[in-house]
Formats: sequence, C-alpha cells, structure tokens
Amino acid sequence: MARMIKLAILAVALFVLSQTTAAVTTHAVGDGKGWMVPSGDPLFYAVWAAKETFILGDNLFFNFTTGEQDVARVSKEAFFTCNSTDPIALYKDGPANITLNSTGEYFFIGTLDNHCVLGQRLALNVTASPGPPPSPAAPRTKPENYTVGDRLGWLVPPLGEIAYLTWAYNKTFIVGDTLVFNFRNGSDDVAVVTKDAYNSCNTSTSIAYYNNSPAIITLKSAGEHYFTSTYDYHCDLGQKLAINVTGSSTASPPSSSGSPTPGSATSPSSSTGEGPTVGGPTPPPPASAAPYRISGGFLFTLLPIVMAFIY
Ligand SMILES: *[C@@H]1O[C@H](CO)[C@@H](O)[C@H](O)[C@H]1NC(C)=O
Ligand SMILES: *[C@@H]1O[C@H](CO)[C@@H](O)[C@H](O)[C@H]1NC(C)=O
Ligand SMILES: *[C@@H]1O[C@H](CO)[C@@H](O)[C@H](O)[C@H]1NC(C)=O
Ligand SMILES: *[C@@H]1O[C@H](CO)[C@@H](O)[C@H](O)[C@H]1NC(C)=O
Ligand SMILES: *[C@@H]1O[C@H](CO)[C@@H](O)[C@H](O)[C@H]1NC(C)=O
Ligand SMILES: *[C@@H]1O[C@H](CO)[C@@H](O)[C@H](O)[C@H]1NC(C)=O
Ligand SMILES: *[C@@H]1O[C@H](CO)[C@@H](O)[C@H](O)[C@H]1NC(C)=O
Ligand SMILES: *[C@@H]1O[C@H](CO)[C@@H](O)[C@H](O)[C@H]1NC(C)=O
Ligand SMILES: *[C@@H]1O[C@H](CO)[C@@H](O)[C@H](O)[C@H]1NC(C)=O
Ligand SMILES: *[C@@H]1O[C@H](CO)[C@@H](O)[C@H](O)[C@H]1NC(C)=O
Repeated sequence: MARMIKLAILAVALFVLSQTTAAVTTHAVGDGKGWMVPSGDPLFYAVWAAKETFILGDNLFFNFTTGEQDVARVSKEAFFTCNSTDPIALYKDGPANITLNSTGEYFFIGTLDNHCVLGQRLALNVTASPGPPPSPAAPRTKPENYTVGDRLGWLVPPLGEIAYLTWAYNKTFIVGDTLVFNFRNGSDDVAVVTKDAYNSCNTSTSIAYYNNSPAIITLKSAGEHYFTSTYDYHCDLGQKLAINVTGSSTASPPSSSGSPTPGSATSPSSSTGEGPTVGGPTPPPPASAAPYRISGGFLFTLLPIVMAFIY
C-alpha cells in the first residue's frame, strides 16, 4: 500500500516535472524564415517579436548558415546604431541556440556587412512569468483628440516608419476620435488612402486630401484607416500612419446600413474638408473589436527610445 502511494507520488512528481519542462519554449526566430536579412521589410523581426512572449528560461533558435549570417548579442545603444564593434556575445556558427537566462531586454544584430541596417536585428523583453492574462480594460467611450506624432508632428520621420508605428501602437481609437495632423503648409499634406496605397506608397489617388495645417480628421467609421503624404518619397521614407478604429462610442450610436466590416480597407469617399466620412457609415458596435495594438517585443521596449531620438 505504501509502495502504491509512493508510486502515485512519483507519478504526480514526474507529471509536474514534465509539465514544467514543457513550459520552456524554443522560439524559432523569424519562424520558417529563420535569421536572415529581411529584404524590403525592415520591421520583420519587430513584428515577429511582438507576437511572442519571452519567459525566463526560454530558448531562441537562430537558424542560419555559418558564414552567410551570424548573430551577436549587443547593448541597446549598439542595437540602435548597428555597432558590432564590441558585442556582449558573438555566435558565428549556425544555427545558434541561446537561452534567455535573465529577465529584461535582449538585443541581437547580424554583424556581417550591412545586415543590421537592413533589418537583421531583434529586440525583446524577457519576463519572469507569463504574467496575468491581459484583463480587458473597460472600453473608452468618450472621444479624444490625438495629435499625430505628438510633438514630432506630421513629417518625414527621422527614423522612418517606426515613428508612427510607435506612436499608434498602444493607442485605442474609437469612432468619434479626432486626429490632428500638424505639418508645414506647402511642403506637406495629409492623404487618406486605401490599404493598398498605404502599402505600396502609390498616392496617385486618395480618399480624402488635406493641405491646410492643422488637418483635423474625425474618425467616423470603425476599421482600418490609412494616412500618408502625397509629396514625393514622403510615404516611402516612413510618413505613413495606420490605425484601427473600434466601433462603439456612446457619443455616436452606430447605424447599421452598408457597413464595412472592421478590418477591411476603408471604402472610397470623395468628401474633403473638416471631418470627412473616411470609411462610410458607422458599422454595428463590435464590442469585441480589438484596438490596433502591437504588444510585447520590440516596440514595447522601443517607444521611449524612439521618443528620445525624436525630441
Ligand atoms: C533551418 O534553415 C534551413 C535552410 O533554410 C532549413 O532547411 C531547415 O529546415 C531549418 N531548420 C529548422 C529546424 O527550422
Ligand atoms: C561602437 O562601439 C565601440 C565599443 O563600444 C565604441 O568604442 C565605438 O565608438 C562605437 N562606434 C560608433 C560609431 O558609435
Ligand atoms: C538548437 O535547437 C534546435 C531546436 O530546438 C535543435 O534542433 C538543435 O539541435 C539545437 N542545436 C544545438 C546546437 O543545441
Ligand atoms: C547566462 O548565460 C550566459 C552565457 O551562457 C552566461 O555568461 C551568464 O552568466 C548566464 N547568466 C545567468 C544569470 O545565469
Ligand atoms: C477636440 O478639439 C476640438 C477643436 O480643436 C474641440 O472643439 C473639442 O472639444 C476637442 N475634443 C476633446 C474631446 O478634447
Ligand atoms: C502607451 O505607452 C506609453 C509609454 O510606454 C505610456 O505612457 C502610455 O500610458 C501607454 N498608453 C496606453 C493607452 O496604454
Ligand atoms: C497607382 O494607382 C493608380 C490607381 O489607383 C493606378 O492607376 C496606377 O497604375 C498605380 N501606379 C503604380 C505605379 O502602381
Ligand atoms: C496653413 O494655412 C491655413 C490656411 O491658409 C492657415 O489657416 C494655417 O494657419 C496655416 N498653418 C500653418 C501651420 O502655417
Ligand atoms: C483591426 O481590427 C480588426 C478587428 O478586431 C482586426 O480583424 C484587424 O486585423 C485589425 N487590423 C489591424 C491593422 O490591426
Ligand atoms: C519588460 O517587462 C517587464 C514585465 O512586464 C516590465 O516591468 C518592464 O518594464 C519591461 N521592460 C521594458 C524595457 O519594456
């Protein structure tokens, strides 16, 4: 009998142990793409990191071919300046497995050629435990005014696209909110564009257009809204903003006719002037609609740093 109990205890202990062991995650950096130069997509690893949760003891699996790539753990400063002079650790042989054995920020870059500058860099934040499940905060109902870019304003951002991504990343936009774009008359403008135009930076057609600063745009519909400048190369250089508006606001009860679904590109409308209807009628209240949000990972640690660069 005692033996049975001992066996049972052993079984339980083994089970618990196996569960604990199973909790260690190996993160394949870049998933199937591995550790490479993300041509044309400099935020590739930022986006990858944003979807992962890094817990103390987890492993990073950098899959690359020895000689073609390498990976160095570096300081925050070296990460931002792509300085590979004096790395904390350098892994020349691929693939490389790195255990995240301390909490806090980790920064990795590729040191070969200009790989880092082209986007082969990864920043992440390691926490001691998965933490409490994100408790959905009570949805905001009162409209707010947002000054796009805050003190930076609306211009070609010094560090590129990351500036407006960072600005928008943890903000919640609801129908009725107002975006204020401050820019220089005559050398910039604001165009409301489709997702395709935002992605391709083809601004030959826009949904709405503003050339007097400040441009004040009221968000009248839920879903994704895209903004850029029509001036040459401004969009390509990162003057572009994407936000996701959630539907409900007690201030403006939603109508239900001809609604675009949240997540679809805004439908064209030719209105201009203050507060155009940029996406058609307000759709029904998706109380569950998630705000545009990138959590964890790169942008999480990046925000104060980008702001420090800007101001
Ligand atoms: C690592 O990358 C190589 C080449 O792309 C690929 O063949 C291999 O399956 C990858 N290994 C893992 C474990 O993903
Ligand atoms: C790169 O880092 C090294 C060592 O930390 C430092 O001496 C050097 O000045 C840095 N170079 C640049 C261009 O910042
Ligand atoms: C690194 O981790 C991968 C995936 O977990 C594993 O297949 C590989 O054998 C490990 N390599 C080394 C050198 O530990
Ligand atoms: C983490 O691992 C590195 C490299 O293996 C080692 O130098 C360092 O002492 C370790 N840190 C802790 C807290 O175990
Ligand atoms: C937003 O700004 C407008 C004018 O710029 C003002 O009339 C309005 O009260 C402001 N709304 C909020 C919620 O601050
Ligand atoms: C967004 O992040 C900034 C800086 O980390 C923080 O001050 C602010 O409270 C956050 N806003 C929301 C709505 O989470
Ligand atoms: C830009 O978009 C317009 C219409 O949306 C299209 O006619 C034109 O061919 C596009 N230009 C390029 C370079 O893709
Ligand atoms: C831009 O022009 C408009 C109208 O001409 C004017 O009201 C506004 O003050 C100007 N804004 C700036 C920032 O110069
Ligand atoms: C916007 O929100 C909708 C609904 O939550 C979601 O399906 C879509 O992916 C979001 N778009 C972006 C760009 O986050
Ligand atoms: C890293 O995550 C921890 C726990 O969530 C948080 O307290 C800390 O502020 C984060 N650090 C950075 C630089 O984001």
